[in-house]
Amino acid sequence: MKLTVLAALLAALVATPVAAAPALTPVPAQMTDGEGTFALTPKTRIYVPAGDADARNAAVYLRKQLKTTRNLTIEIVTGEPAPGEAAIRFVRSPAAGHAEAYRLDVAPGSVTISAGAREGLFYGAVTLWQLATQDATNGAANLPAVAIADTPRFQWRGLMLDSVRHFQSPQQIKKIIDAMAIHKLNVLQWHLTDDQGWRLEIKAYPKLIQKTAFRQPAGAAGWTRDGKPLWYGGYYTQDQVRDIVAYAAARNITVVPEIDVPGHATAIITAYPEFGAEGTKPKQGMSDWGVYPNLLNVEDRTFAFLDTVFNEVMDLFPSPYIHVGGDEAIKPQWQASPAIQAKIRELGLKDEHELQSWFIQRVGKTLSARGRRLIGWDEILEGGIAPDATVMSWRGVDGAVTAARSGHDTVLSPAPMLYFDHRQSSFSDEPPGRGVPTTLRTVYDFNPALEAMTPPERKHVLGLQANLWTEHIRTDERVEIMAFPRLLAVAEVGWSPAASHDWTDFTRRLPAGLNRLRATGMRYNTVPFEPHMTLSPAADGKITVALKNGLDLGEIRVDGAVYGVPVTVADGTILTVQTFLNGTPLGRERRLAVTRAALETRDSYQLEICEGKLNLALEDDGATNGERAVMLMDILKPCWIWRGADTSKGLKLTAKVANYPFNFQLGNRPAPIVFDTPQTRDGELLVRVGGCTGEPVARLPLAKAAKSTGVTVLTAAVPAVAGTNDLCFTFAQGAPPPEWALQEVRLTPVTE
Ligand code: ACM
Repeated sequence: MKLTVLAALLAALVATPVAAAPALTPVPAQMTDGEGTFALTPKTRIYVPAGDADARNAAVYLRKQLKTTRNLTIEIVTGEPAPGEAAIRFVRSPAAGHAEAYRLDVAPGSVTISAGAREGLFYGAVTLWQLATQDATNGAANLPAVAIADTPRFQWRGLMLDSVRHFQSPQQIKKIIDAMAIHKLNVLQWHLTDDQGWRLEIKAYPKLIQKTAFRQPAGAAGWTRDGKPLWYGGYYTQDQVRDIVAYAAARNITVVPEIDVPGHATAIITAYPEFGAEGTKPKQGMSDWGVYPNLLNVEDRTFAFLDTVFNEVMDLFPSPYIHVGGDEAIKPQWQASPAIQAKIRELGLKDEHELQSWFIQRVGKTLSARGRRLIGWDEILEGGIAPDATVMSWRGVDGAVTAARSGHDTVLSPAPMLYFDHRQSSFSDEPPGRGVPTTLRTVYDFNPALEAMTPPERKHVLGLQANLWTEHIRTDERVEIMAFPRLLAVAEVGWSPAASHDWTDFTRRLPAGLNRLRATGMRYNTVPFEPHMTLSPAADGKITVALKNGLDLGEIRVDGAVYGVPVTVADGTILTVQTFLNGTPLGRERRLAVTRAALETRDSYQLEICEGKLNLALEDDGATNGERAVMLMDILKPCWIWRGADTSKGLKLTAKVANYPFNFQLGNRPAPIVFDTPQTRDGELLVRVGGCTGEPVARLPLAKAAKSTGVTVLTAAVPAVAGTNDLCFTFAQGAPPPEWALQEVRLTPVTE
């Protein structure tokens, strides 16, 4: 009896939901729940103080957000609400603390946003809009009574967008700015120049865009059907840049331009060869990724060029920081150049690293002459760092530690944790990108309070930034889904107090965050949330299905029932699966076909990569605009393993292969890629049993595949070898390009 009562009590406790705190991301520094709600209706008015342009900016933003995401139209009025009128008020309070700090008080009869500065007023509006968009409904909303006192943990909460490797339209840049603003991200580092192109109109040097803003994509994708070169790209006019910078500023986002020197500078040298190190003759339209050897020279006329360019850049971008790149400037050209070597001696420098340091410091003088600050990738530490320079730490966090220790400010953007060109889960329906996943959780759990720093050193950490390099991200949709939802995690780590770090609570607020992305038209990656299957054979020709989502979140439902343990079903069964978190769907509903073919097939993601020196999920270059096969491979050692195949009776092998144009410059990786020697002109796919060396058991010629720009199916017999064995797949080929890749393998038992 007693036990039953206790059980009933417990059940009642579990069933009565504790009113959850509002789903706000980033979570505010302080939040106290109140009693009741404020009814936000079309009749609610927003009051702004007379003559307060900042409050009006915030109010206009709030009104626009409510209109576009809830279809709620409310009026802005100058002055004070009438006594007893339930209204929203913006109040300018004496500056208290940080410029971005604000208070938001929601009570049944009033909503007050108060802040000392433009930034805080804006963020008060953002939080109020988030309070009004915790669900996906339209029209009036009941805002929970709450008292929020909010201030950011870090002043730099950034995203770097690479608009060189693939170009995004000005409209698309604004869309990204909008989505940053609703999460209180405040820095957009804009990567505008690189080896593959120069995207910024410079009036004094028109050839920069004329010669490099368009390039021919590598391989078959670079040609039209009738064999004409296909040029791809674009650039930003100065008017467009001013418009984007102003648009960002109205949303409290500083656009930090990056002009990358002295390496990643092939576009400059293509347009103006006189600025390149001796003997550098790049061809027009670079379509290779990676690290090129091309460096600028150090002649006075090159610095005159840079001085003019950076001055035009500073005219366009009011940002206090100007990014000068400095990364991956490998030095063989400087080592080989008599003029450069003479300059090193003349300056009394030790080596090329000190010369690079001298180079960066010289550029820094152009910036400091106009009161701007130099920021660069962590290579600017090598050979001596410029005074007052800020270090963006990307090769892990060591650069940040060194910078802080020597009294320099730093921004944390370490690979791979904050590198958004990495895929977000291990599933094959992820878009292309770097192979090792950087999951939403990896990003959320990145701890900017670095162990290796003392508390005073940590004061030099301005904040953190995600870097979205776009070599493998050729469409706007992919830019969006690589950025989101991971930027929500950057926003929270950058804004919210360390003490509020809580993955479970972050994910509780995720459905509301995803609703907001949908409401604003921002696409996001759903793949890591969605159930994926692993199949194994069961008795009587049936198949056992194990389901998992990439983040182990919530519950998976299979045909409406909660999934617990693997299920065994008949060949040909279709399962309808979806992940739910606290009753809300996360990701798409998917229909999974459980078939013998699927059981016998592993794609490149499900095979094991032999070494993993540089894993990339790469696209075949087949269709110029349409769908293309994506293959996971180690580009430095293409080699895949099927673990544990039953080879005892022999197998029929069906392999799908494709090649890609191997558009990589590997200046920083001098060792050549080693392939087996081909026995035919186009090479062969090699299959080995039990290891990756020794005599292959099958050698599948690639002649047919070499004629195709897409995926080709090859077949062979794998002879019987006793027991269960690993199968290893490699290619015998000449030096790339192209490089061959395995998309998928099917092993079918040989039936007697
Ligand atoms: C970088 O990823 N090269 C900064």
